[in-house]
This record gives sequence, C-alpha cells and structure tokens, in this order.
Amino acid sequence: MTDVAIRCEGLAKQYRIGERESYKALRDVITDAFASPFHRFRSALRHSSNGAASKEEPYFWALDDVSFEIKSGEVVGIIGRNGAGKSTLLKILSRITEPTRGHADVWGRIGSLLEVGTGFHPELTGRDNIFLNGAILGMRRAEVARKFDQIVAFAEVEKFIDTPVKRYSSGMYVRLAFAVAAHMETEILLVDEVLAVGDAQFQKKCFEKFRQISTGGRAIVFVSHNMSAMRTVCQKGIVLDRGKVTEHGEINKVADRYLENMQPDLLSNEAETASFIVEEIYIGSEEGSVIKTFDDVKIRVKAKAKTDIVDPGLYVGLLSRDNQRITALDLKDFQTVPGITSGDSFELGFDISALPILPGSYELEVFLKDLGHHKIELVPGRVGFDVVESPVYGGRKIDSWYGQVGLRACGFAKVTSLINSDQ
Ligand SMILES: Nc1ncnc2c1ncn2[C@@H]1O[C@H](COP(=O)(O)OP(=O)(O)OP(=O)(O)O)[C@@H](O)[C@H]1O
Ligand SMILES: [Mg+2]
Repeated sequence: MTDVAIRCEGLAKQYRIGERESYKALRDVITDAFASPFHRFRSALRHSSNGAASKEEPYFWALDDVSFEIKSGEVVGIIGRNGAGKSTLLKILSRITEPTRGHADVWGRIGSLLEVGTGFHPELTGRDNIFLNGAILGMRRAEVARKFDQIVAFAEVEKFIDTPVKRYSSGMYVRLAFAVAAHMETEILLVDEVLAVGDAQFQKKCFEKFRQISTGGRAIVFVSHNMSAMRTVCQKGIVLDRGKVTEHGEINKVADRYLENMQPDLLSNEAETASFIVEEIYIGSEEGSVIKTFDDVKIRVKAKAKTDIVDPGLYVGLLSRDNQRITALDLKDFQTVPGITSGDSFELGFDISALPILPGSYELEVFLKDLGHHKIELVPGRVGFDVVESPVYGGRKIDSWYGQVGLRACGFAKVTSLINSDQ
C-alpha cells in the first residue's frame, strides 16, 4: 500500500493560442477511466520533444514541467492567477485532456467537480443522475441507494429531485453536483472553483464536508481564488504561475508568499498632482507587504516637489473596498514638516503600532498638501492592500465575517452555582 494519491512528473500541456480544444464529456471519460484503481495519464505525443512546435506556430505551454506529489488524506489548494493553468491541471488529472509531455499517476477513483461539466445528463432528473454517476464510478445500485438520502439532503434539492437537472438553477445544480462528488466512494476529489456559485452557507457546509472527507483518508485538490477559504480548508498549497509550480508547502506560508508576490507595485506609474510627483506609496509590516491584524505597520509616501512647498502635509484614509472610511491619519496631528524646495525629493508617512484591522481587502487614499498655499491635492489612483487571515485572538483564524475592526479584548466568565452555595 502506498499513501500517495497523486504523483505528477514533468507534466506539460501545450495549447494553440486562440484555439479551444474540444473536450469529451466528463461522464465519457469517467466511464473508461476506472477499470483499474491505478491510472497513469501520460502524454499522447510520446515521441514529441521540447520542440514539439516550430517557432512560427502560435503554441504556448499552459502547464510546463509540473511535478508534485499529493498524499491520501491531504487537502491541497491550487493557487494562481487567471490563466495560470489550474483548471488545465485538474482536467489532466480527471482525464478530460491528455498532457503533451510527462505523466500523472493517480491511485484510486476520482470524483470531480470541474468547470467543464459535472457528469450530469441535462435531460435526466436529479434522481437518475445520482444513480448514473454511481454506476459510472462502479458502485452497485444498492450502494448508491444507501447514499441517496444523504446526497439529496446535503444538496437541499428534495423538492426538485424528480425534475430534469436542465431546469435547475445554477446554484441547485452545483449543490447537487458537489453532493454527488463528495458522497460517492472515491479516493480523490477534485473541485475547481465552482463552489463560488453556492451561497455562503452552502460553502461553509462544503468546507465542513472537505474536513470529514480528508479525515476519512481521501485526498482533495481544490482550486479557488478565495484565499481565506484556502487557508481554512487546505493543509497544503501549490502555486502555479504561468504553468509552472513556484511554491508547494504549508498553506499559510504558501498563501502569504503568493499574496506578497501578488501585491502590485503600489504605484506602477508615477502619479502626479498639481504640486507633486508621487514615486511610491508603500504600506507594509515588518514582514514586508504581508500584513496581519495587530502588526506594526509602516505607511510611506515618496514624492518630489514640483514647486516650493511652504507647509507640507499628508493625509491618508484607510477605506474598505466598499468605500467606507474606516479611519484616517493627518500628519499635522503628529508633527510639522519643514518647507521643501522645488525639485527636492521627500518621504512622509506614519508608523502605526498594532493595526487593529481585521483580515480583508482595503485601500489607501492619499492627499498631499501645502497648507501654506491652501493646497490639498488628491493623489490619483488608490492603493489596495490586504490584511491576511490569521489567528487574531490567538486561537482559530478570524476572517472578514467578524467585520473590519479588531479589538484588544479579554474574555470574562463568572458562574455562580446555587446548589453548592452555602449562603
Ligand atoms: N482548451 C483550450 N484550448 C486552448 N487554450 C486553452 C484551453 N484551455 C485553457 N487554455 C489556455 O491555457 C491557459 C491556462 O488556462 P486554465 O484554464 O488552466 O487557467 P486557470 O488557472 O484555471 O485560470 P482561471 O483562474 O481563470 O480559471 C490559459 O491561457 C487558457 O487560455
Ligand atoms: Mg480555471
């Protein structure tokens, strides 16, 4: 017995730019994929070399030399920007498409929920699709019947179970598809993004299900852009960047590094106001651009004066992504800055101790001022930053559900027992 569930070696997938490969339906590939519990999905072009495409041909590598191993019972998040190759990887693992080079070994049956389809037949009812999927996975009718009620209850589609699934709303469809994939007896579960279709309550239920599944020894590979969800449900993360694996390890470390690299150059182009050229706006903690709640944080604005500035000033507002001003700082309240001569560079900012902002995405708005000339100039373009999810209060991770402001608090409890009281 091996505890390896998935092993990819030198996996590569080449596509022709602008041309979509047509896929087989998922149910067709599943049917012929599960004759034996071990599968090696290797390149169809075994003789092709690195130079499979001549230079003139508009090919590119959607996956490029991808190697990794996933063990049974691991929940692994695949992280990466749009077009990084995440869905391509899951399609290869579920045999919807073949790699151009390399191979993927998979030990066990695969249940999957992919963007290309669910293995459902649109004309069949929910009930028939559940039995069809079970049959495709090699389960006996009685076995599926035993799971049936759990699946329907989990998906919350009792009323519509005898309606053809083509009449389902996208949320109902995904709920049933997830319930089927999660309850069938497969050793591996692949889930691509789709949970985003469900409401928050259903997503929570799915993540709880992930936990049960992995405790039962099954491996889960989960693609999502929701970094908080990743941190909550995955133990490990793999970052794909333009088809290559750039990180693989403990999920929080991987997610921190990913977010750090994702941080845009805060102002990629110089921004200009009437009196200033702004070269850089920076917000970061001692660990760089990754900020956690209650970290000490530095804000710096580097700029050059276009004219003489008599009484320089800086105002920085901290806004939520829905434009609510959470708090703001004005340098005037802390100190006076000496005058700046035209052409001189300068740096203004704030050192904030223990930033009490909960995990989430925020923006800075910045005004530079010359109060001597009654100028208050908004720097165009806001600067986005994230406060990453962390165990704010020392225990479990806190997410944006808790709002935007962190509190320095202690718990209090007092229990007075009447029975044992002598008074
Ligand atoms: N069937 C296809 N034919 C041609 N090119 C494709 C095909 N499928 C994907 N691509 C291209 O391969 C690259 C990787 O796509 P993929 O769908 O794997 O990205 P992704 O990481 O899942 O992105 P997203 O976050 O947007 O879902 C993209 O440039 C995409 O346009
Ligand atoms: Mg995708």
